[in-house]
Amino acid sequence: MTFKEQIQQGIPSELPIVKSFDTAINRAPKRKEILSKEEKELAIRNSLRYFDPKHHPVLAKEFSDELKEYGRIYMHRFHPDYELFARPVAEYPGKSLQARSIMLMIQNNLSHAVAQHPLELITYGGNGAVFSNWAQYLLTMQYLSEMTDDQTLVMYSGHPMGLYPSHKDAPRVVVTNGMVIPNYSKQDDYEKFNALGVSQYGQMTAGSFMYIGPQGIVHGTTITLLNAGRKIAKNGESLAGKVFLTAGLGGMSGAQPKAGNIAGCITVCAEVNAKITKIRHDQGWIDEVITDIDALVTRVKSAKEAKEIVSIGYLGNVVDVWEKFDSENIYVDLGSDQTSLHNPWAGGYYPQGISFEEANEMMANDPELFKGKVQETLRKHASLVNNHTAKGTYFFDYGNAFLLEASRAGADVMAANGIDFRYPSYVQDIMGPMCFDYGFGPFRWVCASGKSEDLEKTDAIAANILEELMQTSPNEIQQQMADNIQWIKGARANKLVVGSQARILYADAEGRMRIAEAFNNAIAKGDIGPVVLGRDHHDVSGTDSPFRETSNIYDGSKFTADMAIQNVIGDSFRGATWVSIHNGGGVGWGEVINGGFGMLLDGSEDSDRRLKSMLHWDVNNGISRRSWARNEGAMFAIKRAMAIEPKLKVTLPNLVDDSILGELFK
Ligand SMILES: NC(=O)c1ccc[n+]([C@@H]2O[C@H](COP(=O)([O-])OP(=O)(O)OC[C@H]3O[C@@H](n4cnc5c(N)ncnc54)[C@H](O)[C@@H]3O)[C@@H](O)[C@H]2O)c1
Repeated sequence: MTFKEQIQQGIPSELPIVKSFDTAINRAPKRKEILSKEEKELAIRNSLRYFDPKHHPVLAKEFSDELKEYGRIYMHRFHPDYELFARPVAEYPGKSLQARSIMLMIQNNLSHAVAQHPLELITYGGNGAVFSNWAQYLLTMQYLSEMTDDQTLVMYSGHPMGLYPSHKDAPRVVVTNGMVIPNYSKQDDYEKFNALGVSQYGQMTAGSFMYIGPQGIVHGTTITLLNAGRKIAKNGESLAGKVFLTAGLGGMSGAQPKAGNIAGCITVCAEVNAKITKIRHDQGWIDEVITDIDALVTRVKSAKEAKEIVSIGYLGNVVDVWEKFDSENIYVDLGSDQTSLHNPWAGGYYPQGISFEEANEMMANDPELFKGKVQETLRKHASLVNNHTAKGTYFFDYGNAFLLEASRAGADVMAANGIDFRYPSYVQDIMGPMCFDYGFGPFRWVCASGKSEDLEKTDAIAANILEELMQTSPNEIQQQMADNIQWIKGARANKLVVGSQARILYADAEGRMRIAEAFNNAIAKGDIGPVVLGRDHHDVSGTDSPFRETSNIYDGSKFTADMAIQNVIGDSFRGATWVSIHNGGGVGWGEVINGGFGMLLDGSEDSDRRLKSMLHWDVNNGISRRSWARNEGAMFAIKRAMAIEPKLKVTLPNLVDDSILGELFK
C-alpha cells in the first residue's frame, strides 16, 4: 500500500501485526496508576470505541496490558509502518491544500527527529501530546485527506469528533486540549482524565501542531540571554567569558546551549537523561559532554580564562553542579533552570542522589516517596541558588514553574513581602517589558514545499522587510529590530532546522503582516511554494499565564484568561486555517490557558485578506490588554497602532497620581 493509501484508509479494518520498536527510541516514563478498577474498565471501553467489535477480545487484553505497563493506552499496534516526518505538502493525499498542510505539521510534530517520546505521541515537555493514542492519529489523518474547504474538523483533546459543514473562511481544524471545568483542574484530575482517554495535555505548540523543534526556543532564549547580558553588563561589555548555568536538554530546554553560543557565553547545562544528552550532542546542539563533576570544574575554569564561547553538557543532576560551583567558588554570571517543573511528579524533575533509572522506578511504584525526594531536592536547589545570588549571580525563573514548585516545597524563594518570589521571571524582567508590550513575539513559518531553497528565500525576504521597517521605527523598538535582523541573517549559518523547513523571528504586528504579505506575493509569483504561518503560544496575546507570559501584568488581572479566549475566537473568524486553545502548557495543567493558530499562505487574494485581518488582531489584542494594565511600552504601542489603522479604537487607561491614594486607607 502506498503512503497516500495508508493515510486514506484510516484505522485498518484488519489488525496490523504487533510491532516491536527500536530500543534506542526515547520512551515516556510509566505514568502513575490513578484509575480504580471500574475506571480501568471504563478506559478500556473508551479505547475500544475506535474499533470494530470483532477485534475487541484481542484489543481489550492488549490495551489492558498497556494500561498496566505504561499507565496509559497508546495502542502501539496501530503505529503506522511508514516513517513520520514533514513531507513536501504535495505528497499528502486530499482535496484541500489547507488540510494537507496540517497533515505536514502533524507529522512534523511526531517525527522521531523532532518528538521527545514519538511512540507515545509526545512532542515535548514530557507530556505535550499531539494525540493520546494512535487511533486518533489515524482517524484525524483520514479526515484531513477527505475534507473539502467548506468543512471543519473538530478535535476534542486529540479525539477527532468529526467533519462539520462550514465555509471557506472558517478554520479547517478547531483544536481544544485539556479544557476542563475549572474546579477539576488539579494535577491528579489530568492524570485521571488522560488515563481514561478523554483529555490530554497539549502543552503549547505540541497539541496545536506548531512545534518546529528546538529552533523555536533557541531564538527566544537567545533574545533572553542577550538582554540578560545587557542587564548585568557593568560597562556595556559582552557576555564573553561569562558563565550561564542551567539544566535540561529536552524538547525546549535543549535550545539553551545553542542560544548560549549565539549570545557568546560559556553555557553549562546539566541533564540527567543519557539518551537525550547523546541526541543533543549528535545533533550539534551542544559542543561537549562531560560526565565527571571535577572534570567539569577544570573545563569551566579554562573556558573562563580563555573567554571561550562553548556549550558544555553535564550528564548528571543540576543540583550537583550548583553545589560544586558553590564550594569551588566558580562564579556563575547568569543562572536559570529549564527542568520540566510544570510536571514535577512524573519525570519533569529528577531528585539528587538517586540514579535516573531508580528515579523512574520510584515515581511509578512509590509516588509519595518520589514526591518527597523531589521536594527535598528543590529546597536544596533553591538554597544553593541563594548562595550564588548572594555572590552576585543574576538568576531568573525560566517559565518552567521552578519558583512556584520550590515555594510549594517550602524552599526559601519568597520575597520579603511574602507574596512575590525573590527572583523575577524572565518575562517580568526581560520579555514582557522589552518585547511583548511592544507586540514583539515569536512569529514563525514553515516552507510547505520542504525545500531548503525556499527557506533561504523567505529568510532574505524577511530580512529585507525588517531592514526597511527599521529605517522608520521609533527608538523604543530599534534594539528589537536590530537583534532580529542579526538573527535572521545568521539563522542559516547556525543550522537551526530540525524537521520541517522552518524559521522563527520576533516581529511586531506591522512586521508580521508585512513579512507575511511579502511571502504571499512571492508564492503568487511562483518564486516559492506555499508557506504555513504560525507562532509559539508564548506570545503577546495568545497566553494567559500568571507566572510566565502575563507575569508582568500588575493590575490584578493576571489570573484571568479573557485575553487568550478572546484571541482564539478572534483568530478563528479572521481567517486562521486552524486554531487551538489549551489548558496547561509551559507552567502546568490548571496554571495557564494558551492558544495558537496556523495559517496557510497559497499566494491567493484570500490569503492576503486573511493574513492582514488575523495577524493584526492576533498581536493588537494583547497590546490592548497590556496597555489597559498600564504597561508603559504597551500604551505607547497601542497608540501607534491606532495611528496606523484608523479602524482600531482601543480604550486607554487614565493614570492615577500616587498622592491621591496615599491617604485613603490609613
Ligand atoms: N521559557 C520558555 O520560553 C519556555 C519555553 C518552553 C518551555 N519552557 C518550560 O521549560 C521546561 C522544560 O521544557 P522541555 O520541553 O525542555 O522539557 P523536557 O521535559 O523535554 O526537558 C527537561 C529536561 O530536564 C531534565 N531534568 C529534569 N530534572 C533534572 C535535574 N534535576 N537535573 C538535570 N536535568 C534534569 C529532564 O531529564 C529533561 O530532559 C518546561 O517546564 C517548559 O514548560 C519554558
